[in-house]
Amino acid sequence: MYFSVRQAVILSTLLLPLLSTSASTQSANAANSALPPPVHLTAEQDHQRTMDLLNITTLRPGRSGNPDAPNAANYDESKANPVSDLPDPLILNNGKKVTSPKIWWSQRRPEIVESFDREIYGRVPKNTPKVRWEVTATKHTANGDIPVTTKTLAGHVDNRSYPLITVDIQLELTTPDNVTGPVPVIMEFSFIGPFPRRPGAPAPPPPPPGPTWQQQVLAQRWGYATLVPGSIQADNGAGLTEGIIGLCNKGQPRKLDDWGALRAWAWGASRALDYFETDKAVNAKQVGIEGHSRYGKATLVTMAYDPRFTIAYVSSSGEGGAKLNRRDFGEIVENVAATNEYHWMAGNFLKYAGPLQWKDLPIDAHELIALCAPRPVFIGGGATKGDGWADAQGMFMAAAAATPVYTLLGKKGLDTTIFPPIETPLIDGDLAFRQHSGGHTPAPNWPTFITFASRYLSAPPATKPAQGD
Ligand code: GCU
Repeated sequence: MYFSVRQAVILSTLLLPLLSTSASTQSANAANSALPPPVHLTAEQDHQRTMDLLNITTLRPGRSGNPDAPNAANYDESKANPVSDLPDPLILNNGKKVTSPKIWWSQRRPEIVESFDREIYGRVPKNTPKVRWEVTATKHTANGDIPVTTKTLAGHVDNRSYPLITVDIQLELTTPDNVTGPVPVIMEFSFIGPFPRRPGAPAPPPPPPGPTWQQQVLAQRWGYATLVPGSIQADNGAGLTEGIIGLCNKGQPRKLDDWGALRAWAWGASRALDYFETDKAVNAKQVGIEGHSRYGKATLVTMAYDPRFTIAYVSSSGEGGAKLNRRDFGEIVENVAATNEYHWMAGNFLKYAGPLQWKDLPIDAHELIALCAPRPVFIGGGATKGDGWADAQGMFMAAAAATPVYTLLGKKGLDTTIFPPIETPLIDGDLAFRQHSGGHTPAPNWPTFITFASRYLSAPPATKPAQGD
């Protein structure tokens, strides 16, 4: 039996009230229809709107990954440091020196957080909605020869304040079964789902032979988790009136210091950690976070803002991550301020791509690393050939410049400011670094990260093999 569209509309108008199950559903529907729907802007329109709010008419263009383009990215180290001075993480805004951990915690650190909030990554709203975690499936399998339990989870974000936007965070947790207690867990921001690639970016190299990162983690008797960033916040400017940012703004566009996608993803990681705190299979005091490239940026932001994370592996995070904004090597500030990437940041960030300059940034990436202190952070990247866009040396320099804060807090950062030869791990301190030669991928640095992390994470004893095994 077929209906015309008109007939179907009439039929559904007649049937709907009958199908509605309760008075409360009906009143909720009535309330929803009174709500203004989410605003829809393209990334270009929202970017222009942000520029208008900032009274900016033009931005300087970013660099191109095409070496023949007139604005090709710089890969010449002798030209990479046009700004000689970095802001000093241990000098207060009033010019006084930070002379004790107490002054760091009570005065200087909050000043740095405020600058990152206002100018770079944006502020997380004071009252974000609660998340209700649901285990939607549990599987008992094996990964390699290790028996594991995998839970699929959905984090339902309370949307009663604006029911027109639904956010369900996707998370998967795998823990080994051959253990006698709760395990440390490494969580990855996963590349599952669609995400835009830079035009002309080299394809990621195939994974190296040998165990996957998950198998390497299991071999330590740790668990692993994967979090899907796109289920928290879309990876584009058009999505800023939806996802968790849009939900908190009731579908309206952002203010200039509202959070961008990096802080939204980091917020989602913190909600996953809330769940781990309730799961008896997990030692929630020993949860590490890992991510690569744009998710390397999100990893560093997560670690900087949520002190409950024990350790981080920040891979090829580049501009907007661990790389100094004052560097001219590979990607630069202007790229991240452009329509395809600005949504990672607060609107205010755009002004540093015009009229302001890099030197006008009140803070730089070394201070984001310093916010992680005294906790351990591993910073990795690839060779210039294959991963120059992420600027390993710029990330190393930021780690070196964060070191005085680790020292002040009684820890050991990097003990050198000299960029190490490729594939030389610097893992003796609480800040670690390694450049690999395998292209734009986190894979080659996993074994070194695990060696580093095993100083901080302790697995429970293994179960005794059953008799006869
Ligand atoms: C682009 C972008 C980088 C980002 C990378 C990725 O290349 O310019 O900042 O890190 O995408 O996430 O793969």
